[in-house]
Amino acid sequence: MYLGIDIGTSSVKALLMKADGTIIDTCTEGYELSFPKPNWAEQNPDDWWKATKSVIKDLVRKHDLSNLKGISFSGQMHGLVALDSDDRVIRPAILWCDQRTVIECNYLNLGIGKEYISDYTGNIALTGFTAPKILWLRDNEPDNFKRISKIMLPKDYIAFKLSGVFATDYSDASGTLLLDVKNKTWSDEMLKLVGVTKNQLPELFESFEVIGTVKVDIADELSIPANTNIIIGGGDQAVGAIGTGAVREGVVSVALGTSGVVFAPTDNCIIDKGNRLHSFAHANGMFHQMGVMLSAAGALKWWVEDVLKCNDYERINQDIEVSQDSEELLFLPYLIGERTPHNDPTAKGAFIGIGINNDSADMSKAVMEGVAFALRDSLEILKSMKIAIDKIRISGGGSKSRVWNQLIANIFNLKIATIEVSEGPAFGAAILASVGCGEYPDVTSACDSIVKDKEVYLPIQDKAAFYRNKYLVFRKLYPLMKSLKNK
Ligand code: XUL
Repeated sequence: MYLGIDIGTSSVKALLMKADGTIIDTCTEGYELSFPKPNWAEQNPDDWWKATKSVIKDLVRKHDLSNLKGISFSGQMHGLVALDSDDRVIRPAILWCDQRTVIECNYLNLGIGKEYISDYTGNIALTGFTAPKILWLRDNEPDNFKRISKIMLPKDYIAFKLSGVFATDYSDASGTLLLDVKNKTWSDEMLKLVGVTKNQLPELFESFEVIGTVKVDIADELSIPANTNIIIGGGDQAVGAIGTGAVREGVVSVALGTSGVVFAPTDNCIIDKGNRLHSFAHANGMFHQMGVMLSAAGALKWWVEDVLKCNDYERINQDIEVSQDSEELLFLPYLIGERTPHNDPTAKGAFIGIGINNDSADMSKAVMEGVAFALRDSLEILKSMKIAIDKIRISGGGSKSRVWNQLIANIFNLKIATIEVSEGPAFGAAILASVGCGEYPDVTSACDSIVKDKEVYLPIQDKAAFYRNKYLVFRKLYPLMKSLKNK
């Protein structure tokens, strides 16, 4: 048996899997997300630990885990977890969605210069990334900064609590802006810039590597075998992509969750001149290019639940299915700013081109289309970089909607497929655990035998032509909105 644990932003999810990929059970437990000031987002790492222990204990109560061979992880990326010399958490973790580091990012991108930062790391500074958070701590909480003995990412904290080993992996480390992604080593230049040394950083592993075994006292407390292997796992996007089988060039994964992600595996580390996409290490030893939009299914949830005050997604989907195509009604999904392609925390959303005949179904459809167009922006960048896109595998809460999946196939003008197991990154983590323990020779063969397509959506040609034109209009809207704001 293998256990995959996903340290998410709102909850931890544990998934118990047999070696052949059959899921035995899952268990989830939520925790608080605090917003102590506008634009801040923090969490207490010990809440992750408590919830992790609780979900493991829950599975132990329900199943015989004496045959548990390995545990691996997926985690919310970029969060800054800092421990003192007694391995105590110094302050709440500063999370991926925290936007407090505008000054620090400007210092790195403009003061030092994007070209240098990109040269050192393969990426430019974004407010969510870890290095600007360390700079913020240095300048705003110097006493806390001085106490730092260990810096790690959310899932690394859980691996550390379980095994006592101070480790991370290349995929998650890519999002720190401290890793020289191409050479898979910490960047001396970046460490100097943020004022930390290598011994404050974890040892680097591939996501499928065993870093140790569970500590005896913890194994006792949790009633799991003491020799259970701990496999380090990776960032939630890379591990999620393992769960969707995006493990070779050409198979692109689209995650339609609260945020939306376009994830393309690449054999080599490619660094785009304009750093339009994130250039990170993959969890199977490859690299990947990734576009992240901040409000995807989150935008639909806002529209349906907060504005329409409705919870009946089935009805919304049925209404959309019979609604007319509108050439003019468009939606911009930038409700909480945007990363790819605009990299603009101040970007805003909009409905444009509403007519007296439009009803709520037309507007719901416009929201789905707007999200799909925004995802297509990342796809267009991939195409311009000559990265292969043969097939799209779609996952995440939004992919439960058949109407939306078909819209996306039409808007991308590509075949897309959902997958049999839509348990998200916890599934990818369990696959990594099985590879680490030698069940499969490598991650790619594990995915080939475990991950299967479910439904396939083919683009409808006249719709694809219609959306080709509508997308051209969509692309003009953000610059227009920006120019209005700047007037
Ligand atoms: C990836 C990213 C999110 C977080 C939280 O760059 O910011 O996927 O990892 O899920």
